[in-house]
Amino acid sequence: MNNIRLMRPYISYDEVEAEFRGVFGSGMFTRGEHVEAFRKELSQFTGARHVHLATSATTALWVCLKLLDIGPGDEVVVSDFSFPAAANVVEDLGATPIFADVSRDTYNMEAATLAPLLGPRTKAVIFVDALGNPSGLHDVGALCRSRGIPLIEDAACAIGSSEGGALCGSVADLTCFSFHPRKLISTGEGGAITTDRDDWAQWLDVKLAHGARGMKGVALDFVDYGYNFRLPELQAIMGRKQLAKIDSIVDERNQVRDAYRSLLEPMGFLPQRVNADVRFNVQSLVFSVPPDCNRNRLIAGLKASGIESTIGTYAMSASTYYARKYAVQNTNSHWLEENTLTLPCYGGVDISRVCAAIKGGLCR
Ligand SMILES: Cc1ncc(COP(=O)(O)O)c(C=O)c1O
Repeated sequence: MNNIRLMRPYISYDEVEAEFRGVFGSGMFTRGEHVEAFRKELSQFTGARHVHLATSATTALWVCLKLLDIGPGDEVVVSDFSFPAAANVVEDLGATPIFADVSRDTYNMEAATLAPLLGPRTKAVIFVDALGNPSGLHDVGALCRSRGIPLIEDAACAIGSSEGGALCGSVADLTCFSFHPRKLISTGEGGAITTDRDDWAQWLDVKLAHGARGMKGVALDFVDYGYNFRLPELQAIMGRKQLAKIDSIVDERNQVRDAYRSLLEPMGFLPQRVNADVRFNVQSLVFSVPPDCNRNRLIAGLKASGIESTIGTYAMSASTYYARKYAVQNTNSHWLEENTLTLPCYGGVDISRVCAAIKGGLCR
């Protein structure tokens, strides 16, 4: 019997071959037409005025914090239930991550629990769309606006998701996406930043081009110091192909989610809650397990049956590094790290086999 993987790529070599040949023929491996076209298409798709590509969501988040001049003495509030990249970039710049506990239902930071964490040292808030779910994003945005605090959306998982009809990428002051292979658009590694602010876009234009703006005589004019986190041309081709079919990818993943729900909810598994005004891209299909179920034993049992699964995601504050340094006790995110399960999700996945394996005594 074949193994069932957690994720399957939404791109084949056949789809990119012709464009790849074009790049190999021209030698334009970077800063070519596909990079510019991918930026424009992401801007049209999300509704954001400006898009900058990056090597990953992590570098995108790091650059956004540099843009906001965040450093020692500053605090940045981050959703606690997430892959640790958002806290890591805060830590790297010498600022202090403040871990906001999340809702046990949506897995997201909420305005009510965020409010008491905001203070005079808060320089930004990073709202994570947990596993692609933007539920509560607008409420958090309204609170941040009322306090004059910039909102960064860690939408690493959320391309194609929306809340209240507004696509992720068009809501927060700055939004960061990931194009890692576990995401709905994969370029191998890759990322993007969106913003509506012209002054920030100009800053990013210069900083992401080694600090160059225009020419001095026949050579570049380095008006600032800067960085190189460019997404290469071949990666942009891959991104464009998947962006063109993102709506059908999201529809397909929702159908798979519904099918799993109908089999697992009667067994006591609870799906991540998605608010009524949210279109969820189902980047990860996550359930909390029933009280009598040993989640870790279930993951091991599924593995023995050739089925890949994993934990929901991490409580960042419970990681060895952050627990030792900050000793934060966030009840919900810590509970979610221990009690949630991610299952294989894509069109054609053998849902009955996965659910039969769960039902057939593995969940004890
Ligand atoms: C919520 C979140 N933020 C950031 C990242 C980091 O993304 P990247 O691998 O593109 O740096 C991830 C990766 O899984 C993530 O899930």
